[in-house]
Amino acid sequence: MVSDVPKHYSVLLNEIISIITPQHGGTFIDCTFGQGGYTKRILNFSNTNIIALDRDIECKKKADEILDKFNDRFTFKNKKFSQLEDLKLKDNNIRGIIFDLGYSYTQIKDKKKGLSFNSIGDLNMQMGLNDFSAKDVINKLQAKDLEKIFKYFGEEKEAKKIANHIVRYRKHKILNTENLVELIEKTKRQKNFKIHSATKVFQALRIFVNKEISELISGLVCATKILSKDGVLAVVTFHSLEDKIVKYFLKSLSENKSISRYVPKIDQPSSLFKIIKKKPIKPSTKELKENFSSRSAKLRYAIKKDSFYKFKTDIFEKFQYLIDIENLGNKL
Ligand SMILES: C[S@@+](CC[C@H](N)C(=O)[O-])C[C@H]1O[C@@H](n2cnc3c(N)ncnc32)[C@H](O)[C@@H]1O
Repeated sequence: MVSDVPKHYSVLLNEIISIITPQHGGTFIDCTFGQGGYTKRILNFSNTNIIALDRDIECKKKADEILDKFNDRFTFKNKKFSQLEDLKLKDNNIRGIIFDLGYSYTQIKDKKKGLSFNSIGDLNMQMGLNDFSAKDVINKLQAKDLEKIFKYFGEEKEAKKIANHIVRYRKHKILNTENLVELIEKTKRQKNFKIHSATKVFQALRIFVNKEISELISGLVCATKILSKDGVLAVVTFHSLEDKIVKYFLKSLSENKSISRYVPKIDQPSSLFKIIKKKPIKPSTKELKENFSSRSAKLRYAIKKDSFYKFKTDIFEKFQYLIDIENLGNKL
């Protein structure tokens, strides 16, 4: 996640290391390579191997540096984590799979990506391997669709008003980043002095453009399939929607309850995961002092108790209402 210190900062790094215990060696998958913070620390332990993924091709530069040093123990793929299964890894002994969601400091500072409301020029927000940009979303989708995106992905209270104003504005002019920020500032009646007026709409657009909800759900399901028995699945989230999904997924596969009545009975252990800590791990006071932007980070993890490759989950049904909103992008 973004750092307010002028460098990339890997959030909850020590906590991740103490959970996945790379000192015992083994193969790990870093689903969100970013600037390689987690990967580098794991590779410092001998007998470890890392397969790293990132949807942003610009991470390849950092990956190549690591490859120079650790070419026999490190592989990088420019892929989305929803494509984890394409790696065909199910026979490997995968001891840990980690997700550090969201965007990196490098990405938010990259003006071309337009992830920040401080960017200028065309709206974009694509992290990599996308189908459309925020420019398409803002300038082409109907007001009712924009309203849903802002409301559900940004929890923006004035979603309807902002959506209507956008549609009115764009009859005369294509909106760019500055226009959108200005329009939101002028539209919002309720000022929040803790966050910028445009924060929620920008978060919503980023989630929508990058299909972050379906990515996360598919990523968790794929990771659970390929993780070995006794392997750890660890996820760092940065907003409440992400945390809700991760919490539900791990909890639903760790309880002795029958899943959705729509899902047929299956022969999997009723609890595939063991959750060690119910409450998420949050950054320490020391970390918050060094990187205040880590304040919204939450780390949840669980241990896979069986070697099941096939299992049933109702996670897609549970969050279908959010996936349906992401699918509005098919209109573009
Ligand atoms: C917070 S950064 C990771 C930082 C990393 N842990 C480190 O220490 O350098 C998140 C990274 O995840 C990548 N990412 C986000 N969604 C992704 C997805 N669906 N598939 C693959 N990579 C993704 C972003 O491009 C970004 O580089």
